[in-house]
Amino acid sequence: MTSDLIPCQRHLFDLPEDVAYLNCAYMSPLLRAAVEAGQAAAARKARPWTIRPEDFFGQSERARSLFAELVGARADDVAIVPSASYGLAVAAANLPCPEGARILLLAEQFPSNVYAWRELAGRAGAELLTVPRPADGDWTRAVLESLDERVAIAALPHCHWTDGGLLDLAAVGARCRETGSALVLDLTQSLGAWPLDLAAVQPDFLACAGYKWLLGPYSLGYLYVAPRHQGGQPLEHNWIARRKSEEFSRLIDYQDGYQPGARRFDMGERSNFALLPVSIAGLEQLLAWGVERIARTLAHRTAEIAARAAALGLSAAPAHLRAGHFLGLRFPGGLPEALPERLSREQVHVSLRGDSLRVTPHLYNHQQDLERLFGVLQASL
Ligand SMILES: Cc1ncc(COP(=O)(O)O)c(C=O)c1O
Repeated sequence: MTSDLIPCQRHLFDLPEDVAYLNCAYMSPLLRAAVEAGQAAAARKARPWTIRPEDFFGQSERARSLFAELVGARADDVAIVPSASYGLAVAAANLPCPEGARILLLAEQFPSNVYAWRELAGRAGAELLTVPRPADGDWTRAVLESLDERVAIAALPHCHWTDGGLLDLAAVGARCRETGSALVLDLTQSLGAWPLDLAAVQPDFLACAGYKWLLGPYSLGYLYVAPRHQGGQPLEHNWIARRKSEEFSRLIDYQDGYQPGARRFDMGERSNFALLPVSIAGLEQLLAWGVERIARTLAHRTAEIAARAAALGLSAAPAHLRAGHFLGLRFPGGLPEALPERLSREQVHVSLRGDSLRVTPHLYNHQQDLERLFGVLQASL
């Protein structure tokens, strides 16, 4: 049904007509509204007397609740973090990992969701279990086959960052509950563009950088913490995460207690006056569009690209094994030599990885962007 698809939203972004930006998995452009919010926010710091004590809390709470709405959690379950790796470090610091246990990862997983576990495995005497890339592209089956009682922690994405290879997280979550394994998710490459059923998945921790599919700024992300872990140890000990931090005149009445829920895991200086309004603008727009509709619209777009690419002899994972907002196109004889130069000359922005071309559109892409992409592909083959 195409009537339910979101029409092109390029007017909300500041993209020149002659630029075909098909690389949201690298970094999203900001909405015009987010740029305006960011400019106003930066200007406020020129007049610090306009930043009031309540502003240390109001914007953070707004961002927290918008992210909570996006994942289907409560604001209390969300911490504000600078990056996915920070969120994953919180998870690694708070999950038991006995000696000899396993930590399960995907082959070629994004490094922020690998190094934290390498470090934990080294410290705990545990081992990393890396699920090899399945020949048939079915990551869910491959993960379920490796997930048993020996796995203390499964640290996974929703889709593989190189080509969108999809995991059925509800099935993985159910298996984790059977085996007693903790489930830690890095949803940087899916949240905002691909629906998540949090109640079905029930992760322990879920980290997400904000500058890709959340349409936000760099250096501001979010961490969902399941209620059972909200009594854990934060990485930092900052004043605002403690009880009664609203009472500015009594901050030296040092407190052992924390702000409620996952707020104890907030990074230092989480009340980022310059960046929070930018992130808020992105989250508000995503919620207004609706993630289900975004996903359907982008899946329709990538299906069209995959079909046209197939006619040129390029292959992609079948639609049911990849996230709809992602496409990894493979060239039968390897990457054509002239391709990188041509892409750059024609201002077609995609990612090249080995012999694969990662194409990740968003709602700002219009039909001319696709024509530019295929113009370059045809000329290069
Ligand atoms: C899957 C995934 N996770 C995380 C990140 C970013 O990690 P960090 O926020 O730790 O810089 C990226 C960036 O490309 C990514 O693709």
